[in-house]
Amino acid sequence: MSGERLFDVRVVALREEAPGVVSCELQSTSGELPSCPPGAHVDVHLPNGLVRQYSVASATADSYQVAVKRKPASRGGSAFMTDSLRIGSLLRIGAPRDNFPLVAANGRTVLIAGGIGITALLPMARLLAARGLDWTLHYAVRAPEDAAFKRALQDLGDRIRLHASSTAGCRLSIEDIVMQQPAGTHFYCCGPASMLDAFLAATTSLPPEQVHFERFGAEPTAGGQEFVVRLARSGQVLPVAADQTIVDALLAAGVDAPYSCQQGICGSCEVKVLQGSPDHRDDVLTEAEKASNKTMMICCSRACSPELVLDL
Ligand code: FES
Repeated sequence: MSGERLFDVRVVALREEAPGVVSCELQSTSGELPSCPPGAHVDVHLPNGLVRQYSVASATADSYQVAVKRKPASRGGSAFMTDSLRIGSLLRIGAPRDNFPLVAANGRTVLIAGGIGITALLPMARLLAARGLDWTLHYAVRAPEDAAFKRALQDLGDRIRLHASSTAGCRLSIEDIVMQQPAGTHFYCCGPASMLDAFLAATTSLPPEQVHFERFGAEPTAGGQEFVVRLARSGQVLPVAADQTIVDALLAAGVDAPYSCQQGICGSCEVKVLQGSPDHRDDVLTEAEKASNKTMMICCSRACSPELVLDL
């Protein structure tokens, strides 16, 4: 793991926000926490050794509130957070990472959330409301009772549109929403993979700087052609098998590699590329950053060229 700064926190509140969704307030045991912009997430280091990323729903000078949805096939992260945490439990967290920044320009902003994705968009809505800007938040759930943070959403008034797929005529159509907005609107989406796919399809003709999204729950990416990584600092040359990630190959060779989510969403495994052509598969770098090939996420991205030379 990278040598990032960690903060000791205590669980000071747990609340069931919706069936299977628990919010958890984490308060520093030793003073202030770094400021946390809307849309940021934190790494939570669990006592069972797992590190999981959670969006911050709200933050004060010394606490962050995160929300967790229990997954039926949990590999230990969401199950621990929803079932084993108690008031007073101690955890360690990283500093917030802002891979999903809010532009908050004067024009119109449309926020589109699905399921637990509301956690990232709720603080954006609060900020837009506080600044008196023009915005709407569309929140897709299966049934009205599945909506998390109901009280906080009610406080935001009639700019919140709840779309319950179980209610006739209420189903979310991202395509319709996008088509109805004025030119220059910024769109933000956070939700499951199917929602992100629909969002990207609906916004494909828009300028990329107006389209913002965060993908959660992506599958760890491996698979493809075998290639070789050369580590510029040590001169080591390591093969990366077709079913291995670069991080896997480095760790197998005893090389200390930075990583966290292993899903291409957190940015902690970013490494400089000195030579070669990466096959970018992450959701962190912008299209322009990917085209520049200056850095890559080694937990999921692979190589288009037979060899990559990395600044490791
Ligand atoms: S470890 Fe999170 S993006 Fe690679």
